[in-house]
Amino acid sequence: MFKRQLISLLLASALSSSLRAQAPASAHGAWYEHAVIYEIYPRSFQDTNGDGVGDLNGITQRLDYLQSLGVDAIWIAPMYPSPQVDFGYDIANYEAVDPQYGTLADMDRLIAEAKKRHIRVLLDMVLNHTSDKHPWFVESAGSKTNPRADWFIWNDGKATNDTHAPNAHQGPHGWVVPPNDWSSLFQGSAWEWVPARGQFYYHFFYKQQPDLNWRNPAVEKAMFDAMRFWLDRGVAGFRLDAVTTLFEDPELHDDGPTGKLDASGFPESNHVRTSGLPEVHDVMRRLRVMVDGYHDERVLVGEIYVPATAELLGWYGPRSAPELQLPMDTLVGFHTEAPGQETGKNVALNIAHFRKTIVEMEAALDGHQPLLVFDNHDNTRSWDRFGDGAHNPLIARLIATMLFTTRSAALLYYGQELGMATHTPTQREDVRDPIGITGWPKEKGRDGERTPMQWTSGPQAGFSSNPQTWLPVAADRSSVNVASESADASSLLNWYRTLAAIRRGNPTMRDGALVMLDATNPAVLSYARTPVSPSGHALVVSLNMTAQPQVVHLDLKAAGIGGPGVKTLLGDAAALNGVTSLATFMLPPYATLIAEVQ
Ligand code: NOJ
Ligand code: CA
Repeated sequence: MFKRQLISLLLASALSSSLRAQAPASAHGAWYEHAVIYEIYPRSFQDTNGDGVGDLNGITQRLDYLQSLGVDAIWIAPMYPSPQVDFGYDIANYEAVDPQYGTLADMDRLIAEAKKRHIRVLLDMVLNHTSDKHPWFVESAGSKTNPRADWFIWNDGKATNDTHAPNAHQGPHGWVVPPNDWSSLFQGSAWEWVPARGQFYYHFFYKQQPDLNWRNPAVEKAMFDAMRFWLDRGVAGFRLDAVTTLFEDPELHDDGPTGKLDASGFPESNHVRTSGLPEVHDVMRRLRVMVDGYHDERVLVGEIYVPATAELLGWYGPRSAPELQLPMDTLVGFHTEAPGQETGKNVALNIAHFRKTIVEMEAALDGHQPLLVFDNHDNTRSWDRFGDGAHNPLIARLIATMLFTTRSAALLYYGQELGMATHTPTQREDVRDPIGITGWPKEKGRDGERTPMQWTSGPQAGFSSNPQTWLPVAADRSSVNVASESADASSLLNWYRTLAAIRRGNPTMRDGALVMLDATNPAVLSYARTPVSPSGHALVVSLNMTAQPQVVHLDLKAAGIGGPGVKTLLGDAAALNGVTSLATFMLPPYATLIAEVQ
């Protein structure tokens, strides 16, 4: 565990306590354009009934904390009834709450209490697949003639003479193997045999997550009905899970191999026939029409991993027929050093990458509002991905600052604001995420980024009264926790609070265009946010992405930014307090400066 350093947090007098006060975040534009959206993994946030698993009442109990952090909306990962194979992403009933998380009444209360604090509630909507225990799939799997026989992707398979071939089964007309080379993202073949039907079904993820057949209009109707059920109860919108995977090639052509074996030893296919098919955009357009029918800015957030920013544009849809308001820009925050490198590996801060993708976010999205993200429940935490082991607290401030000071909505993952680290299990017996069990030791799963929220330094970090928590509470809770960091003006938590307050209260930070400065500097990333009114002040952000001190020269005049002097709004080194000009200034290793041009 990295020893946390003491950071001196500097607040200029201009950032008065009134700036910290919570107010609704929609002075201009739709609320979500400037929102801070906080992702909650419900199993891991707060347990109130002592079973060692978080619950909805736990989220309600912590709303005051979320308000004090400056959160505009929470996205709750799936809390529907589920066998929990994929911890909720395998849904067995779309219109109820899993009893281990609470009741519908608890959800209604959570939505109402959140509203009192100007916090909206987004749910996770898993459209691509259900649980294999969902009554739709149970019925579908029972015969080829039932009313839901065509709700999932069924296939007879290909005849084979090789009865020992992998995944060979005796069907009604002889031995068969899967119809093509499609692999599951979660290891192994994407095809699973069901004797009762004498057919295979297709699953992009776990075999307990059969893919729905979106070419059947009855499926779309059922899923839209489920979403209306929640919209009618007051949820502000959805984060759409794995939405690029809704459609597959109806002719089932081979994907083609990537040339690699997955962690279980199965040949990976490249998913070109099972992901990114254009048909999905028609569904998104109809979904947007349905959601816009509510007339009060309900929002669709998309889980989108695409290889280039330009491809993200398609997910906003044409202005005349819009799709998602906030497809996630995962390009900035989940980059790797080299193509093909795992995102779980430690990657040095790559200034060229950040500069390029932040500019693209500003310029290549046709004026749409980006949604920036560095952390979620599927990836090693940014604390470890970008941290070098010696400067993690400073590097975490650089990441926080990029997240909150670019012109974007911001997605924050629980514990990111504390500097929670990834705690990957050290032995297979402890792993809970199935991909970590089948893939061990090559793939250790996602438990590490899902450990319980650290509220206090006390037993179970205040997460639960039960010593048997579903994943172990990290030992670094003694210093990395809400209570200690709240009391420390120089903590990462208070850095986030200050950034949120600046975002909320400063019109330039909310709406000003982003202009890169000193764009060939190989060590320091600098950008300005330009004022939106003649009386407004430009802001300048400078981030030293190296372990060496850097002398920076910024020519604000050349960038068309007026004003002779500057005043520090926020900095994480004492030397930055007295900066009065940006013509020449020194940034200590990994230091962050936010200055206001006078
Ligand atoms: C993406 C989710 O974020 C991940 O946790 C889940 O396993 C897959 N989709 C399948 O639903
Ligand atoms: Ca699919």
